[in-house]
Amino acid sequence: MQKFKYAVAVDLNNVLSAMSSEINLSIEDIVNMFEYTPNSSLGDIAFPCFKLSRILRKSPVMIAQELSFKLSGECISKAEAVNGYLNIFSSDSFLCNEICEIEATKKKYGSDNSGVGKTAVFDYSSPNVAKPFHIGHLGTTVIGHSLKKIHEFLGYNCVGINYLGDWGTQFGKLIVAYNLWGDKQKIEANGVDELVALYVKFHQEAEVDEELNQKARNEFTKLEQGDETNISLWKWFIELSLKEYQQTYKQLGIEFDSYKGESFYTDKMPAQVQKLRDLGLLKIDDGASIVDLTEYNMPPCLILKKDGSTLYPTRDIAAAVYRKNEYKFDKCIYVTSAGQSLHFAQWFKVVELMGYDWHDQLVHVPYGTVSINGEKLATRTGNVILLKDLFATAIDKVKDIIKEKNPNLENQDEVAEAVGVGSVIFYYLYNNRIRDINFIMQDALSFEGNTGPYAQYTYARTCGVLEKSIGVDTSVQLTITNDDERELIKTLSKFGEAVNGAVKEYEPSIITRYIIEVCGAFNKFYHNCPILNSDNKQEMNSRLRFVKATQTVLGNAFELICIKKTQKI
Ligand code: ARG
Repeated sequence: MQKFKYAVAVDLNNVLSAMSSEINLSIEDIVNMFEYTPNSSLGDIAFPCFKLSRILRKSPVMIAQELSFKLSGECISKAEAVNGYLNIFSSDSFLCNEICEIEATKKKYGSDNSGVGKTAVFDYSSPNVAKPFHIGHLGTTVIGHSLKKIHEFLGYNCVGINYLGDWGTQFGKLIVAYNLWGDKQKIEANGVDELVALYVKFHQEAEVDEELNQKARNEFTKLEQGDETNISLWKWFIELSLKEYQQTYKQLGIEFDSYKGESFYTDKMPAQVQKLRDLGLLKIDDGASIVDLTEYNMPPCLILKKDGSTLYPTRDIAAAVYRKNEYKFDKCIYVTSAGQSLHFAQWFKVVELMGYDWHDQLVHVPYGTVSINGEKLATRTGNVILLKDLFATAIDKVKDIIKEKNPNLENQDEVAEAVGVGSVIFYYLYNNRIRDINFIMQDALSFEGNTGPYAQYTYARTCGVLEKSIGVDTSVQLTITNDDERELIKTLSKFGEAVNGAVKEYEPSIITRYIIEVCGAFNKFYHNCPILNSDNKQEMNSRLRFVKATQTVLGNAFELICIKKTQKI
């Protein structure tokens, strides 16, 4: 509807300027003032006249009335004054043009190329090596990837970075545990699960044997000093972990451009620490080096521990500087749980105090917590639910549903994977990201309601209709014969706005919810309007063009939230 808003705004701007020279609203201002009507019988968009009342010295009711007489334009079929609002109806031909636009732009439909020439870096997923990759990472992984996809769609040059937690004292513990109890073959066979088991055992044993912690510190120091045995163990742990994460990433269709993790920044921190010192920003507090942020109502940002070792913020500062130089980003987006919000606010402030003028290009995108209710999922670590188990359970359940409902379906495994994985992503991304989520598998997998399976089923339905048709003839005239068709086209034409909203607010749920809107409008149209059974050839073709356009828009939207398309379910 954005195009309609702009077209009307141009006409309205002319009318308003003629009414009073005191009104200086730009086209953009007018576009932003438009509201959507609560239902289509009230028009497609509404222009509130309340703010103009003072300038024009007339009541909003009178202004709306006057505008309704004066406003005309090819795109408008009707303009009505109702309680101080000017309700505007789009002409059918203007709406139909949107279908032509979808047909012409296809995979690009919905993009305004606003990101062309700009670079956006995404720091997401970033699990801590040799620790479980669990449902707490679902948010950063799917929100991060979706935001990257949305930016790519708008033309941004995007860089996806997996900032692996591949450095820290946990490696000292793991090395000690491996040397004491490790079994190479078992680890080769079971990967991260085995490493986690070793890590857990270390903690249990350390409770009774305090010396283990000192041993772990020693091993980590050896690792820091480049001890060959420890380095090769460390590399092996990372390799094993990556191999496993990559299976999940593959299922999700995720590829990273860089896996430069925390360890990569070891030699890049001293320069930044020195800069902080030179600028007089470092304070010694109980032996530790900090940046005081009292003035900004935040606790101090810790830069160096008492023993001189670096910390999480130190590495993030060095990594940001490196990325700015390496990628020349226009924005660098960090997707983590809201629990890390203070950490980001603190070191973003430090970057600002250091005089880096790009500090405002750093964006933290926080999200809420996930808990899982209902059926217990199988986990081998006991108290955490691993991402791979969550996806595997969803896929298995879809397999059962298919066996029961559509036993003759071809490529059952492929479909089950697309629908199973899709259902988890969709359920997760349907929520406003900052809200805490209670994950209920049964709800996620339902074919009814606002779910992934429902959306994928609707997409498959468009495929089914088109497959049964003799083809879509785009030269046949489009006609709108009823409200269901009209509503469908209107909904399709709001895609661009959903994309822009999602980017502006770093909120993939805007796309997810939009998909549900499209599915609702399409299914209503599908049930009420005969398509292949229509006895009017022109009408049949016109409707087929609507089906095809729906398929294109849904397909584009699915891409943005990383849901696979299924031709059949
Ligand atoms: N590895 C961290 C964790 O699992 C997340 C890293 C987020 N990115 C960053 N640049 N700090 O909590």
